[in-house]
Amino acid sequence: MSARVLGVRSVEIEMTDPDRAADFFSRVWHLQEIARADGSIYFRGTGRYHHILAIHRAKTVALQRVVFDAANRDAVDRLCQQVRAKAAHCEDPHPLKGPGGGYGFGFTDPDSGNFAVVCDVADHADAGDIKDRHRKIAHVNLNVTNVKASGDFLIEGLGFKLVDESGPLSFFHADCTDHSSIVLGKAAKPTLNHVAFEMPDLDSTMRGAGRMRDNGYPIEWGVGRHGAGNNVFAYFAGPEEFPIECTGEVQQIDDSYVPHGPEYWKWPPGRLDQWGVTPPHTARWKRIQEMVPFTPGAWRL
Ligand SMILES: [Fe+2]
Repeated sequence: MSARVLGVRSVEIEMTDPDRAADFFSRVWHLQEIARADGSIYFRGTGRYHHILAIHRAKTVALQRVVFDAANRDAVDRLCQQVRAKAAHCEDPHPLKGPGGGYGFGFTDPDSGNFAVVCDVADHADAGDIKDRHRKIAHVNLNVTNVKASGDFLIEGLGFKLVDESGPLSFFHADCTDHSSIVLGKAAKPTLNHVAFEMPDLDSTMRGAGRMRDNGYPIEWGVGRHGAGNNVFAYFAGPEEFPIECTGEVQQIDDSYVPHGPEYWKWPPGRLDQWGVTPPHTARWKRIQEMVPFTPGAWRL
């Protein structure tokens, strides 16, 4: 049986003004700054992961990498063998020096995006929910040039399962109970669509959306409840227009889950969510959901 990642542990992003972004992510978005090192700033959610977001300084906004969690060193080593068989670039697993440490390796996907698999990070013992604070990354939605090729890479390299396909989007389930951790959609160029952060309950999700509006960040799409994944959503242009989603009540599944195709997930005309309340997304959201590229060549940890 192939080794499987447990989900998305963290995303590392690049911003032109990390201090300003840090103020947003702690004061408005409600993450907790946990470390600063070499000019980079690290944030935790309320879950166990040492950090779920790292902000590095750069000349333009970019997604540096998406980091997957693995159970232990044996799983990391096995995942490396699986990835290496399919990736253009894949380094050997090694001890990690950054905040939280750990053991892992970096690699590229078929679109030359940067990813990593890590374990043995100095995670937190206090991991209980706190209202109005995000637990973790719920999912990362990526625009890829070939959904079949990138999906096969997730399945054969990292042990994901394809759980649902709803029109433009394919949902990939990791070795956990969350419906999906990676979502793929087709685009002309590989970019980040958005990063979703998970609130512990419905009211926290809605208040998170309200807190954004209070602070001058209008809702670009939402609020509503998605079909696949059943999660409540509100989408925003964050600092430097970085596309982020505040989400909650993500569907929890097990091996008995029955995937569905695009016909099942089709909405009646004019409807965009289960409740029938969200208006269409804004032109700004359309623009920024295909705006952020991966940092070229940054695949080594
Ligand atoms: Fe999403």
